[in-house]
Amino acid sequence: MKVTVVGTGYVGLVTGACLSEMGNHVVCLDVDERKIRILNDGGIPIHEPGLEEIVRRNVAAGRLQFTTDIAAAVAHGTIQFIGVGTPPDEDGSADLQYVLAAATNIGRHMTDYKVIVDKSTVPVGTAAKVRDAVRAALAARGLEMDFAVVSNPEFLKEGAAVEDCMRPDRIVVGADDDRAVLLMRALYTPFMRNHDRLLVMDVPSAEFTKYAANAMLATRISFMNELARLAEKVGADIESVRKGIGSDPRIGTHFLYAGTGYGGSCFPKDVKALIHTGRENGVELGVLQAVEDANDRQKLLLVDKIVARFGADLAGRRFALWGLAFKPNTDDMREAPSRVIVDALLARGASLRAYDPVAMDEARRVMGGAAGLEFVASQGEALAGADALVVITEWKEFRNPDFEAMKAALKQPVVFDGRNLYDPAYMKTLGFEYRAIGRIGA
Ligand code: UDX
Repeated sequence: MKVTVVGTGYVGLVTGACLSEMGNHVVCLDVDERKIRILNDGGIPIHEPGLEEIVRRNVAAGRLQFTTDIAAAVAHGTIQFIGVGTPPDEDGSADLQYVLAAATNIGRHMTDYKVIVDKSTVPVGTAAKVRDAVRAALAARGLEMDFAVVSNPEFLKEGAAVEDCMRPDRIVVGADDDRAVLLMRALYTPFMRNHDRLLVMDVPSAEFTKYAANAMLATRISFMNELARLAEKVGADIESVRKGIGSDPRIGTHFLYAGTGYGGSCFPKDVKALIHTGRENGVELGVLQAVEDANDRQKLLLVDKIVARFGADLAGRRFALWGLAFKPNTDDMREAPSRVIVDALLARGASLRAYDPVAMDEARRVMGGAAGLEFVASQGEALAGADALVVITEWKEFRNPDFEAMKAALKQPVVFDGRNLYDPAYMKTLGFEYRAIGRIGA
């Protein structure tokens, strides 16, 4: 099938690449000429496992193309995905200007039936606004034309986005047009792996589903983080509790890890946007507000622990930071807890040596230049002479370090672990002073 994807960020690029992998002819459009140049030269502007390979393969096969030519891109696809950004406005609502600009462009250039698919996470009611924008652009040309607007939210996890896209749990399609549903079914059938994973529903329910999913997941995390705080006080171990509750299939084992708080491009933004939608409609989402507040507090928990150990004035102290990305396998620094932790430690006069296996360039871009913050090239370099190690992101290579070398490098063997990577009892026998999240003996 002929598909156009507007926006070559995480969502657009992964979607376009995976659709081309299934034999579709995909044209990806972006206004950012630099990005398009990188992509056409075989480069990938983001770190996402497996993505480079499928982009390269499909570009070589002529099934995947990148362009800044709006008219040509609109002419190409019967299915037009909108996968542009929806950054939060100051009031927490999703800023739809890029989505609506994409819709207007489609209306300006289309000459035949199109299925316009909202892939970006957009509030309930956006499909109707997209429809209006397309209609208005057509009317400006003196035209009326048949088209459908479909909501097809993405459920891609960064770091596993290609896998999630190629092997989805479910494909949510919100549509009120039978022809559009048939086309969407045809497009997605190759991804279904022996089960019908297409959930067809009305448009507002599809739009809502995405927010509900992310809000539920964020709630689990904040809830576990709160329980971890209490566990610490009463001498319970959140890791045992996690296993104890996760074995109940109603709860399930996934996504129950206490840590330094959730970050990334989705949870913080979507939680805020849903709270905002609630307010607009006179529904106070008190649980979700508490989820957000708990997360803000959680991002500072490691700092609180450091202050409890070293005092409020951290001048003259140096800390080693391991991990800056908001989670492993990505270089994404958006809403990363590390940013809050770095700011708070610097504000207290500490100096920092930070290392991340992949996100160093991104980290330099978003927090470079801060006095007292140094980026170093290895775990060991970060540790040398530091007062303590602070683990922020659970990269695999941090899971089983050379503890003896670690001890030798640190000024004193103190570890603050925001991801519960190590066994407190083992750390004790090794002679470490080990502080983690909600653990006995830490
Ligand atoms: C998320 C959703 O999972 C995905 O379906 C949606 O489409 C986009 O948002 P992503 O932002 O890539 O994906 O990250 P995810 O792996 O879900 O993690 C989000 C945050 O929660 C991370 O900061 C992570 O460290 C944190 N987290 C996750 C925990 O603190 N504990 C957990 O148990 C799981």
